[in-house]
Amino acid sequence: MPDESGQFGQGRQGVQVKLFALPGVYVPQRDTVLLQRALHRETLLPRAAVLDVGTGTGVLALAAASRGACVTAVDISWPAVWTARLNALLARTPVRVLHGDLTAPVAGCTFDLILTNPPYVPEPSVPPRRGSARAWEAGRDGRQILDRICRDAPPLLRRGGVLLVVHSAISGVGTTLARIRDAGLAAEVTERQSLCPATSARKSDAVASSNAPSPNSGASTS
Ligand SMILES: C[S@@+](CC[C@H](N)C(=O)[O-])C[C@H]1O[C@@H](n2cnc3c(N)ncnc32)[C@H](O)[C@@H]1O
Repeated sequence: MPDESGQFGQGRQGVQVKLFALPGVYVPQRDTVLLQRALHRETLLPRAAVLDVGTGTGVLALAAASRGACVTAVDISWPAVWTARLNALLARTPVRVLHGDLTAPVAGCTFDLILTNPPYVPEPSVPPRRGSARAWEAGRDGRQILDRICRDAPPLLRRGGVLLVVHSAISGVGTTLARIRDAGLAAEVTERQSLCPATSARKSDAVASSNAPSPNSGASTS
């Protein structure tokens, strides 16, 4: 959460790291924290390859990198890309931050863990092409980006890899689970959290975790 100077911190191994955000960049919120908790519970082998899709300030990318992972972060917003690069520099933590649309900048790469807190708030209007609202507006059903992630992320996972997604229950957790399972992964809700009524579009958040089945385990799809 931002402090009075507009900065916000992230506890990391007992060290308080200041993060900055250029105007219009999504400041970490409760969905960020929920996803960070889910990330924290995952085992990350040294040098594990991690992809953070829609990195914003880079807060989650930094959390993974601080655990020794090799992290690539992507964002479609240039201010977010520059913010995440700056925060990585300030934290003296290596993160490769790329500009582009979802997984397009990492085509041909594979990862042990992919995490994303994508735009998921339903809006009657067409999702904006620029501006801060691009961080949360996601079309009529809130699934404009989510459905693409469910389709595009699973093929990038290595064997035993994990996909972590956070979004509002209002955007259809069942649909997310079904789409991820259709992609051949096991999927479950690992965490739920009720948010304050003021943000009713985000009434509760869920994290779906998907383990790519090993070739011998008999991939179950539904
Ligand atoms: C809800 S914010 C999450 C930011 C950060 N990961 C966090 O949890 O605090 C969503 C981010 O996704 C980015 N984004 C939106 N559409 C995108 C797309 N098509 N490709 C890549 N990033 C996108 C936005 O610019 C924004 O930074």
